[in-house]
Amino acid sequence: MSKTIIAPSILASDFSKLGEEIEAVDRAGADWIHLDVMDGHFVPNITFGAPVIKAVRDRSDLLFDCHLMIEPVDPYLAAFSEAGADLITVHAEATKHLDRSLQAIQQLGKKTGVSLNPATSIECLEYVLDRLDLIVLMTVNPGFGGQAFLHSVVEKVAKVKAMIGDRPIQIEIDGGVTVETAPLVSKAGADVLVAGSAVFKGGTEEAYRTNIQAIRAAADAV
Ligand code: DX5
Ligand code: ZN
Repeated sequence: MSKTIIAPSILASDFSKLGEEIEAVDRAGADWIHLDVMDGHFVPNITFGAPVIKAVRDRSDLLFDCHLMIEPVDPYLAAFSEAGADLITVHAEATKHLDRSLQAIQQLGKKTGVSLNPATSIECLEYVLDRLDLIVLMTVNPGFGGQAFLHSVVEKVAKVKAMIGDRPIQIEIDGGVTVETAPLVSKAGADVLVAGSAVFKGGTEEAYRTNIQAIRAAADAV
């Protein structure tokens, strides 16, 4: 069993010292940094945009995994690329022309991701699989950290895994990931686990290290 990638969501960090928080989770063993961009339109919350990502880019060499919960998304892809995103995820529900959005990300030289809300069926992925590096399955309705994991999505993870076949596409789970829920999605085929509250609880680098190790161990044990 390969090592599960842990991507702390900085949404749950202390924004008053965002740079230090990113350095702390990096030292504590994070594999990727997950950045949740929300617009108050596609989702009922507003977080931060490309300038904030650019400001913290030099705090870590880890992959910057930018989860764009914004509609429209195409007009902003270049700004997130320039800010230092390595992987740009768009929501299938937030773009009218998913293939075009993915082509645009590829043309910027970035890795591509598509995210699906819990209620969205997986069929929309079928004809864009060859453009994808990552499929993000939301296990909460996007908009806020700290929500409860939706167990109905576990079956969807297994279906996406089968759809991917032997293509080099990773499955990421986002929302409500804890030591208790990580094994469920890991068993179903998840490669990357986003965790906000479960990583940043405790508020110290030592706590982040303990939290990351516990989630990874729980996921890898299945
Ligand atoms: C929700 C975001 C998540 C969120 C996860 O819309 O996309 O990345 O920060 O937070 P937790 O792990 O607390 O559910
Ligand atoms: Zn996210």
